[in-house]
Amino acid sequence: DAGKGGYEHYMLKEINTQPNALTNTIEGRVQDGEVTLEDFPEGTFEDVDDVQFVACGTSYHAALYGQQLLNQTGIRAQAFRASEYVDSATGSITENTLVIAVTQSGETADTLGALRGAKERGARTVTVTNVMGSTAAREADDALFIRAGPEIGVAATKTFSSQAVMLSLLSLRLAEDIEAVSAPDDQAELLRELQKLPEYVQTVLDSTAAKRIASRYTGSEAFFFIGRGLNNAVAKEGALKFKEITYEHAEGFASGELKHGPLALVTPDTPVFALFNGDKDRKTLQNAEEAQARGAPIVSVAHADHPAEKISDDFLEIPNTHSMWSGLLANVQLQLVSYYAAKNLGRPIDKPRNLAKSVTVE
Ligand code: G6P
Repeated sequence: DAGKGGYEHYMLKEINTQPNALTNTIEGRVQDGEVTLEDFPEGTFEDVDDVQFVACGTSYHAALYGQQLLNQTGIRAQAFRASEYVDSATGSITENTLVIAVTQSGETADTLGALRGAKERGARTVTVTNVMGSTAAREADDALFIRAGPEIGVAATKTFSSQAVMLSLLSLRLAEDIEAVSAPDDQAELLRELQKLPEYVQTVLDSTAAKRIASRYTGSEAFFFIGRGLNNAVAKEGALKFKEITYEHAEGFASGELKHGPLALVTPDTPVFALFNGDKDRKTLQNAEEAQARGAPIVSVAHADHPAEKISDDFLEIPNTHSMWSGLLANVQLQLVSYYAAKNLGRPIDKPRNLAKSVTVE
């Protein structure tokens, strides 16, 4: 199948073409240590008081990433599941609320419903989407295209990476415009690291131990993913990917929350994937050790020589970069673990049962 470019599945092709997708997402949007977004000249967002994201599935996890970044810069932001939004959240919209609809396809009915609900309430709307001419792109006040290229596999991979980067750039752009907040002190450095992100992803693709680790744990009773802050979003995305294509039980938790209930599920037959990005890692390490004390194998995802390496049963290495991007590298490792686990189980990876690429009913 020529469309697969020699890969066995579209999903594998899409995982492997992320360096290119990310290069396209970033191109022309970072200049001289600043974020430049065509259509959003300086001052565009100066009246924004708060940001609400609406999205579903993987796009919701990218929105969680965006929420965390905005909150870190001091901008009030919340990510909503689009299917819940109209009934539970539109009452909080003011004329200074910016609503960002994150949707790969631009056609998800729940997300379009939320977008329309926000518009009716007078919010200003932006969509972050992959598809030009999509309904979301036509109906939102503005559209930002992630330029990841067509994604055929039902399970979203490259579009998550591109969405997260696009939302990061938008967050930095908002911070530049809103007077009450200031751009991160290390903005120039983190943008330099962003430009190296495609290269770092390539390093992960070239050296990953995901296949071996997937084989080691295929057949386990359940799979847990833990992370803190930005990596909480990645843990949730890792678990969603895993359940979508392997049909195995997988859950993603904020690492500190493990001890407040989910720990009851942890046994020697439930591997725990622990994600580290240099932000409060000591606490995450402690949470991983709590799971290990109950017999769970720990698979850490971190940079080389990280303290987690010593306590881990298995290790997925990622290049050492800024904490803003590190989770996206961890996510590539988790995509590959899911892929190889699904392959070991003989699942129809590109078209998992009961799922559709774009869900056009509410
Ligand atoms: C479906 C797909 C998911 C996707 C979600 C949102 O449920 O199976 O992979 O994340 O829709 O899609 P969107 O196009 O709005 O990002």
